[in-house]
Amino acid sequence: MSAVPEPAAVPRQRLLVLDFGSQYTQLIARRVREAGIYSEIHPGDWQDERIAGFRPRAVILSGGPGSAAAPAAGRIPEAVFRLDVPVLGICYGMQAMAAQLGGGVEAAGRREFGPARVRARGHSRLLRGIQDAGNEQGHGLLDVWMSHGDRVSELPPGFKVIASTADSPVAAMADESRRLYGLQFHPEVTHTRQGEAILRRFLYEIAGCKREWTPGHIAERTIQEIRARVGERDKVLHALSGGVDSAVAALLLHRALGEERLQCVFVDNGLLRLGEADEVMAAFADRLGLPVRRVEAAQKFLDALAGVQDPEEKRRIVGRGFIEAFEQVADGLLSETGGAAWLAQGTIYSDVVESAAAAAGKTKLIKSHHNVGGLPERMRLPLIEPLRELFKDEVRRLGAHLGLPPEWLSRHPFPGPGLAVRVLGEVRPGHLALLRRADHIFLEELRRSGWYQRLSQAFAVFLPVRAVGVQGDERRYEHVVALRAVQTDDFMTANWACLPAELLESVSARIMNEVPGLSRVVYDISSKPPATIEWE
Ligand code: XMP
Repeated sequence: MSAVPEPAAVPRQRLLVLDFGSQYTQLIARRVREAGIYSEIHPGDWQDERIAGFRPRAVILSGGPGSAAAPAAGRIPEAVFRLDVPVLGICYGMQAMAAQLGGGVEAAGRREFGPARVRARGHSRLLRGIQDAGNEQGHGLLDVWMSHGDRVSELPPGFKVIASTADSPVAAMADESRRLYGLQFHPEVTHTRQGEAILRRFLYEIAGCKREWTPGHIAERTIQEIRARVGERDKVLHALSGGVDSAVAALLLHRALGEERLQCVFVDNGLLRLGEADEVMAAFADRLGLPVRRVEAAQKFLDALAGVQDPEEKRRIVGRGFIEAFEQVADGLLSETGGAAWLAQGTIYSDVVESAAAAAGKTKLIKSHHNVGGLPERMRLPLIEPLRELFKDEVRRLGAHLGLPPEWLSRHPFPGPGLAVRVLGEVRPGHLALLRRADHIFLEELRRSGWYQRLSQAFAVFLPVRAVGVQGDERRYEHVVALRAVQTDDFMTANWACLPAELLESVSARIMNEVPGLSRVVYDISSKPPATIEWE
């Protein structure tokens, strides 16, 4: 036995996802991680040396909007085929592979978009025995999701057809001796019912990977990394918001550094939900024992917001206020440590991928989202982001592993500017108070009915208009709240939730009876797009 074990925390098995611009690229990387194998997304034109240096166990080529038949189409880097590792091309990835390895691609007579049924052929290693149904001739049939305009018209030398449909004679292809596979359909989306089985066949059997990327591993690895970066003496400052990401980051930092070298700061900005500041302190300081300092700054934030109507201006004011409140605590700490401190942030992998896309000009700014936006530049402290490599679901599993109570793990996201973007127009203390009570009733009823867990986000919005109502014999002329509840996987698109009428009725009855000052409750039935989730 070797005396020095390989550090268990380093993922030896890495899978590379090369991104050719598909809307599903992140989903591919997530599916691979869910299968217990670490994966990273890099651009489709990643340099050969970097691909070789990454030493992937296998490569997946994403789909994309380009046409592999066009002369300017994104090419697959040569290094991918020189590595001698299994390669799976999905949609555009398969077409580009066909075009580059000597086959042919053409525009299909008609676009195939949506569900399709493909017939497996040739008993490939990838699809053998995986099926949703069988036909009379004994061929396996798979229900899959297609989204493509081009198709492979000629197989490259060495390849055979492993699945087909009437519209796509080559719905999947393989050169099994070189372990090169292509799927015209999308195994990463859940509409492809056997997609998970197909990806896992590729990962475990064809690439020989083992489940290694588990919450235990992730925790151990991240804790080692934090210690290695921060060193023996420095302190870390961390802004705790009460959200899942910042909470999990705090728990990891606490495990890595202990009580003495971590300072969490929680800013009560007066824009939180009913009872929230006390709940955060009770959960994190009292129950989990994290070193949290609470900064009372409600009045300051409300003063700064007085008279301001514009949503983006409100966001900027809250962002600035947060920085100032945080800096006050930081100044004290920095004078104690002589400036030797780090700033922690709960950035997760989707944020990293999205900011890379934004920086490359691939996305447009709709709202300037911020969590602790602006803080890193202003503080000029080195930044540590323990969750940078993790997807949201991994963060949640890690949180469970680290002992974060389930009610915090399953919390809906809450925007950094808080209720400032849910009181439309000017943020007045009286309006905030009405909103808080209505919102609390809505959430309470959602939890009681079991609906909270089935929604991605739910909240109330205060509308600064008045409507006429009647209570007893009295005329009321008071304000309106809107209820918003959505279901979404990624918050980029979202459907309004079709809540049961009885539930809406009890929420509305309670709000009107229990919150004087509100005379009407409406339910928002707009999906995103074209609406956004928040009203501002
Ligand atoms: P939208 O309204 O853009 O929201 O459809 C998508 C998700 O982002 C959250 N959101 C924000 N989060 N700062 C944040 O930290 C913000 O300024 C902000 N605006 C929206 C929103 O709650 C939803 O989860």
